[in-house]
Amino acid sequence: MISPDLPAELKAALDARLQGFSRNEAASRAAAISRTYRDGGGSGTIKSETDALAYALARMPATYAAVAASLNALVEIRPDFAPTSLLDIGAGPGTASWAAAQALSSLQRFVLLDANASLRALALELAGTRLREAHYELGPARKLLADAERADLVVASYMIGEIDEAERTALARLMWEKAGEALVIVEPGTPAGYARIIALRAQLIAAGAHVAAPCPHDEACPLEAPDWCHFSQRLSRSRAHMQVKGAEVPFEDERFAYVALTRTPIASHPSRVLAQPVVGKAEVTAKLCTPSGLSIAKIPRRAKADYARARRWRWGDAVTGA
Ligand SMILES: C[S@@+](CC[C@H](N)C(=O)[O-])C[C@H]1O[C@@H](n2cnc3c(N)ncnc32)[C@H](O)[C@@H]1O
Repeated sequence: MISPDLPAELKAALDARLQGFSRNEAASRAAAISRTYRDGGGSGTIKSETDALAYALARMPATYAAVAASLNALVEIRPDFAPTSLLDIGAGPGTASWAAAQALSSLQRFVLLDANASLRALALELAGTRLREAHYELGPARKLLADAERADLVVASYMIGEIDEAERTALARLMWEKAGEALVIVEPGTPAGYARIIALRAQLIAAGAHVAAPCPHDEACPLEAPDWCHFSQRLSRSRAHMQVKGAEVPFEDERFAYVALTRTPIASHPSRVLAQPVVGKAEVTAKLCTPSGLSIAKIPRRAKADYARARRWRWGDAVTGA
């Protein structure tokens, strides 16, 4: 399991990059970029070195934490998975590649694709030891991906929300085609982010994919609107991160939705904890997605060992014996 916090090497590279830049300017650019995101826009407003750095300072820690948590979930279910090659679609500053390099020491070949020249330039400046030899291609993802070599692992982090539905369907088909073994898609943990994940999940299961995480089955999602499947990852904020966001507490919680799909079916699935369990005096109550559907599990205190175990369950955990 890797930490949700940025690796020290990346933090140091970001801090070094910030030297000579006005933090106030970075903060006001970060606020403008965040506003665009909240209004449903994409990264199209990132047009300069300062914009790219502001984005990386304000958002990279959180998107890194979400990808780290998603990859941790995949590795937990598939400890045998040892990819040597990665395709990072809509790579931006290289967030998902950094997380994958940390989570999967077997990775050797990194190919990053993105249409944004400023984010690409920043990614290349930040590239640490593992990513120094990475290939980063600039252009529209679908075109670049069509020409790309297959990779054992394909990742798209906070990207598919920036393209329209027809493009998304076509890109998903291609991402799956290029995924030698696994495809991980991460999105914001909003109902809209979840809806995009669930649509691609259905599309790719129909194309032969199997869900490794978070779902313990390949059936339709049992949640009904207004409920939606999402998770929360706490991460620490550095001083620069706090300044750029005008934040007062040294941590934040990133809500995200994800799916990790594999070519190999999972032999035996644990259940997934879908919300923070409620620990009461008499029992632990936990909302679980189990291989046979949704369940509200109640683990009574008198079942001592089970209760002790359930007390430690956290939102997003894979658990057995419920
Ligand atoms: C929100 S950023 C996410 C960056 C990175 N994956 C992360 O998690 O921090 C979305 C990225 O997708 C890229 N993108 C969006 N649509 C694209 C397209 N059609 N072709 C290539 N890149 C695209 C943007 O340029 C941007 O870098």
